[in-house]
Amino acid sequence: MNLIERIAALEKALEDARATTVDEVEKFRVAMLGRNGAVTELFEAFRTVSSEEKRALGQRMNLLKQAAQARLDALRDIVTTDGPGSVRTVIDLSAPARLDPLGTQHPISIVMDRIVGVFTRIGYTVSQGPEVEDDHHNFGALNFPPDHPARDMQDTFFVEGKDRALRTHTSSVQVRVMENSKPPIRTVSPGRVYRNEAISARAHCMFHQVEGLYVDKGVSFADLKGTLDHFTKSLFGPDVTIRMRPSYFPFTEPSAEVDMSCSICGGAGCNICKHSGWVEIMGCGMVDPAVLSNCGIDPEVYSGFAFGMGVERIAQLIYRVPDLRMYWENDVRFLDLFTTAPMRG
Ligand code: PHE
Repeated sequence: MNLIERIAALEKALEDARATTVDEVEKFRVAMLGRNGAVTELFEAFRTVSSEEKRALGQRMNLLKQAAQARLDALRDIVTTDGPGSVRTVIDLSAPARLDPLGTQHPISIVMDRIVGVFTRIGYTVSQGPEVEDDHHNFGALNFPPDHPARDMQDTFFVEGKDRALRTHTSSVQVRVMENSKPPIRTVSPGRVYRNEAISARAHCMFHQVEGLYVDKGVSFADLKGTLDHFTKSLFGPDVTIRMRPSYFPFTEPSAEVDMSCSICGGAGCNICKHSGWVEIMGCGMVDPAVLSNCGIDPEVYSGFAFGMGVERIAQLIYRVPDLRMYWENDVRFLDLFTTAPMRG
């Protein structure tokens, strides 16, 4: 082969060169640019040719050398990046790790779990039921008279005509538990409920409740009060106290609203408790005997208490989120704030 043929052959070899590992790149370097490499040897041969040939081929020789170096660099790039068929060989151990972002528990789930946890630790079961309910379980069995305003279109989202609606409370689940089991019954029913409210910073048409039910022989109002006192202290610390105000629910008699001494100002008065020192946290009462018999439980033998609270309301006392709507906007900058729950209990 004369010089010009050797140049052409090498130009082609450079173009065809492939490598998938660092070793192959190194072999290429030695074969081309090493001390006995083809390009190096060609330059040796070039030194001995006539000055005419030197003039004619000098530039092409220089281009060949540059092409060999460029090919080497390109092959190095291929094997040190994650191209197809390549092997990642350069690992920067000092580079910060790119961890997959971990999801966080939703603040309402955190609070709901804590509420439920207080009751399961004292022997309550957890019961769940459908969000689309019939009139019987949401209203009828719970003693709502046919003309009760809560059945009105204003409050209730009806589905498929009048007999199906999105449940307005999880008391419906307790009806199902009473219908399907025998006392003693101790259960809490966490879940979503729906009411036809205008959505604002302070109200939503969907929210969460945890309702509780205890039915056995000889259950008294004192048991109710003791249980709720235990609950509030477990969640908000030993310093809070509760008080009860007479109220009305169709399914309990007597009924009460429960206030807790304001956990934020300690009862001294602040804008959360509207300077009263107390915040309302739930409704409760003794299960109306008519409700027990509606559900197949003999009210002459058994009595019970029930209570129900809004999870968002409890969450507000803990997190003080200024606008309820933020809970449901799924903005990760907001949700990421709740990786740990600043709660006791
Ligand atoms: N079900 C009632 C509500 O949704 C709360 C409640 C439950 C009140 C049990 C008394 C007893 O408002």
